[in-house]
Amino acid sequence: MPETRIRTRLTRGAALVASVLGLVAIAAPASADLTLNNDQVLAVRQAVMRTNSAFNGLVGAQAKGQITIPPDQLKAIGEAWLRYGKLAPALFPAGSGMDKNPKSKAKPEIWSDAAGFKTKLDAYAKATSDFQAAASKGDAGPVKTATEEVGKACQGCHETYRAR
Ligand code: HEC
Repeated sequence: MPETRIRTRLTRGAALVASVLGLVAIAAPASADLTLNNDQVLAVRQAVMRTNSAFNGLVGAQAKGQITIPPDQLKAIGEAWLRYGKLAPALFPAGSGMDKNPKSKAKPEIWSDAAGFKTKLDAYAKATSDFQAAASKGDAGPVKTATEEVGKACQGCHETYRAR
């Protein structure tokens, strides 16, 4: 099993994921390298993506008028999404794609077209940050616009970089 060494960025990232997802905190000094194997990287990445999907389902249902999310919970989703936007780049270390791990659907283009992938990461970071800003104020119109913007950022990345 090839091991992927990930530097401080993922140490911080993993702490964020752990706190956002309520997972067991990873005890590592801030300056230490964290070594995750391919399956562990994939587990974190897919867990983040499934949480993305759960958030999207909730805010999408609200945008359609099917549910009303209480303001404090909407804010919490915004804050978690803002963190995910910052964390996402650390979830794709080289060597963790579908060409190296058959359980992954991350296409090799993520690494061969790193500049293109970065535009998708940036779009996601912006959309999630805008969502957080809108959710913190709680006005329905801007929240709905930001919901659509996040949805486009998900799709925009998946259509090129995620295998079906
Ligand atoms: C910058 C690119 C990118 C963005 C933005 C992104 N995704 Fe993904 N997503 C991926 C890739 C790549 C995979 C495949 C990961 C793997 O299997 O290694 C994936 C996988 C998934 C999965 C499957 C997880 C599993 O258990 O296999 C879901 C669900 C998902 N994404 C939902 C979302 C939602 C909802 C959003 C937006 C709120 C989003 N994603 C934003 C790239 C992205």
